[in-house]
Amino acid sequence: MHFELTEEHLMIRQAARDFAQTELKPGVIERDEHQKFPAEQVKKLGELGFLGMMVSPEYGGSGMDAISYCIVMEELSKVDASASVVVSVNNSLVCFGLEKYGSEAQKQKYLVPLAKGEVIGAFCLSEPEAGSDATSQRTTAIDMGDHYLLNGTKNWITNGNSASTYLVMAQTDPSKKHKGINALIVEKGMEGFTVGAKENKLGIRGSDTHSLMFTDVKVPKENRIGEDGFGFRFAMSTLEGGRIGIASQALGIAAGAFELSVQYAKERKAFGKTIADLQAIQFKLADMATEIEATRLLCYRAAWLKDNGLPYAQASSMAKLFASETAMRTTIEAVQIHGGYGFVKEYHVERMMRDAKITQIYEGTSEIQRIVISREVLK
Ligand code: CAA
Repeated sequence: MHFELTEEHLMIRQAARDFAQTELKPGVIERDEHQKFPAEQVKKLGELGFLGMMVSPEYGGSGMDAISYCIVMEELSKVDASASVVVSVNNSLVCFGLEKYGSEAQKQKYLVPLAKGEVIGAFCLSEPEAGSDATSQRTTAIDMGDHYLLNGTKNWITNGNSASTYLVMAQTDPSKKHKGINALIVEKGMEGFTVGAKENKLGIRGSDTHSLMFTDVKVPKENRIGEDGFGFRFAMSTLEGGRIGIASQALGIAAGAFELSVQYAKERKAFGKTIADLQAIQFKLADMATEIEATRLLCYRAAWLKDNGLPYAQASSMAKLFASETAMRTTIEAVQIHGGYGFVKEYHVERMMRDAKITQIYEGTSEIQRIVISREVLK
């Protein structure tokens, strides 16, 4: 068993760390305040190969392993979780699904530009009445012979407006329940497809979360991913890897808040000494450091299982569950350590506390992760 990162991992970590400091940090507070999508930064992330990290070079990707993906997600999320969620969704939910299950023609047409970062993608499963209960899809994709007629609404879609390629889950045959669901590739600009207003969110305010409306959208048959009725299993399998990405995002939010707390504790004076000299603060930092390290190990283990072709559904849910709870606890403590300064925007930790919350909700709530884990435990 090796606990060291390779030379390549260390280089990737440095590249992501530098990018976060030079490109993401300036303007992160303003983007959060004005809900501004980090478009320029995302373009540069694409040029660095971070939007198609695990896709094979044959399809325009960087051919890296999932551990590298965790590392990049952590480093970017330490500074700007609104930018890192774009990286996570594009890599895990869009590129992964297309590379693993798409046809050769779909890969050439859609995966290559997504992996190169020329365009970005969105994953459209959630609906107004189907969030955690993902089998209850109301969006319909009626089989019309050479095409599907798509009707319905999707909610809380990350990259909702900035994406060009959308993977949309829809019900073709309700009598078959989850086995009647299909995954369709929908292009922005298809007639009848409209993007709703941007959600005004508590956290990750820079990312563009929208509802999407489909009214008699004609989606060609060749845009269906996998065989008829494969859509639900497609979504579940894709989310397994997505949860490693969000776990690493939560890890980064926690680690970023922790680093700021250590720095602040060493500078801030109270009662005639730095607050880092107070045991009340030392104990908080010790707990934060321990939980962050445990989170990192869970993330890397899930990624290692994926890289080695081993089952990783339970491991990715464990990583996401623990990471998101750690991010929440750590950022709350970070605000506490910063005192009044923690409550104002300039010190970053209040934003991190708001950003942390979504990691307990998207790509499956903490309760969903517990369902996945307990099912494996009880098998
Ligand atoms: N891989 C492949 N297939 C899987 C699977 C997996 N990991 N997990 C389940 N399946 C299959 C099952 O084998 C079963 O198929 P068969 O009947 O052919 O055997 C089928 O899927 C149904 O499985 P379940 O009976 O387990 O389904 P369920 O109704 O009990 O639901 C659930 C399980 C875990 C609760 C699931 O609905 C779930 O994960 N819900 C949460 C959805 C979610 O994470 N939404 C997030 C939206 S995406 C997002 O947030 C993205 C973003 O923008 C950031």
